[in-house]
Amino acid sequence: MRPRVYITRRIPEKGLNKIREFYDVEIWSEYFPPPKDIILQKVENVDALVTLLTDPIDADVLNRGKKLRIISQYAVGFDNIDIETATRLGIYVTNTPGVLANAVADLTWALILSITRRIVEADKFVRTGSWEASKTGWHPTMMLGMELRGKTLGIIGLGKIGSEVAKKAKCFGMSVIYYSRRRRKELEEEYGLRYVGLETLLRESDVVSIHVPLTKETESMIGEKELKLMKRTAYLINTSRGRVIDEKALVKALREKWIAGAALDVFWNEPLPKNHPLTKLDNVVLTPHIGSATNETREKMAEMVAENLIAFYKGEIPPNLVNKEVIKIREPGF
Ligand code: GLV
Ligand code: GLV
Repeated sequence: MRPRVYITRRIPEKGLNKIREFYDVEIWSEYFPPPKDIILQKVENVDALVTLLTDPIDADVLNRGKKLRIISQYAVGFDNIDIETATRLGIYVTNTPGVLANAVADLTWALILSITRRIVEADKFVRTGSWEASKTGWHPTMMLGMELRGKTLGIIGLGKIGSEVAKKAKCFGMSVIYYSRRRRKELEEEYGLRYVGLETLLRESDVVSIHVPLTKETESMIGEKELKLMKRTAYLINTSRGRVIDEKALVKALREKWIAGAALDVFWNEPLPKNHPLTKLDNVVLTPHIGSATNETREKMAEMVAENLIAFYKGEIPPNLVNKEVIKIREPGF
């Protein structure tokens, strides 16, 4: 019998077609995520799940999946999955690293440029008629921002995404410092980076960009103390996970101008409510968690999700296995 997989959202067809060669596929086809009771109900009868970062895969769900052997996550981050419990139950968990690094780095640079050159504010200025009302087509002090050349970019987390951001910094003439769990000497030479401690990074950077996964260690790693270390002229960019920043502290920092601004693609709770304090501030740019949102990348992510499932089906260790210790508990395959 073919194994059954439940897919919690319609992912690009190219990936689905590959999966269909080996699995019987059922898809949640609404735009919004499946409610918890649907996931609980579906997981009882499937051998595999394809999940998104919006699906909380906790111990409840995992314990309910008596036949569940693999979760193929359509994302690089997997903080929505209780990995410890999955491992204990012999459930393989895979993700989609690498293929989205370039897209997320592009968005990071889009945010850096948007906040430092006030693009969103300027667009609003034109559309709402403030430009016309100013009675001048050009003014020496209209919408002045910060130039990037000669400034310092501080990267927190030098994994695949952080390195891609660092690589692109050269074109803008920025010097790059980084702080990371693991020092990456080979990249230091290749991209001209300098390794520093977190405090030094916060003190010296004109732009701070976060690229760490959300873990117990990184949750709220940027709070009041850290924001106070930053220059008053500096900008904070986050395309990783909202919970890495203490959001209340950030709102305070932005209101009281401890820093110049922030550009955020991720939030403590998503979707960000319309009336959230961040939406009331002018010195922020907000995007709705679209770091990997290009046609090219989403297609590659879907193919990777399929490749992980297919390798497992064939009794091979999936190429992007997250919980490697699971191998000792159960062999791959159904
Ligand atoms: C997106 O946030 C991802 O983790 O892929
Ligand atoms: C700006 O448009 C300039 O001509 O300097």
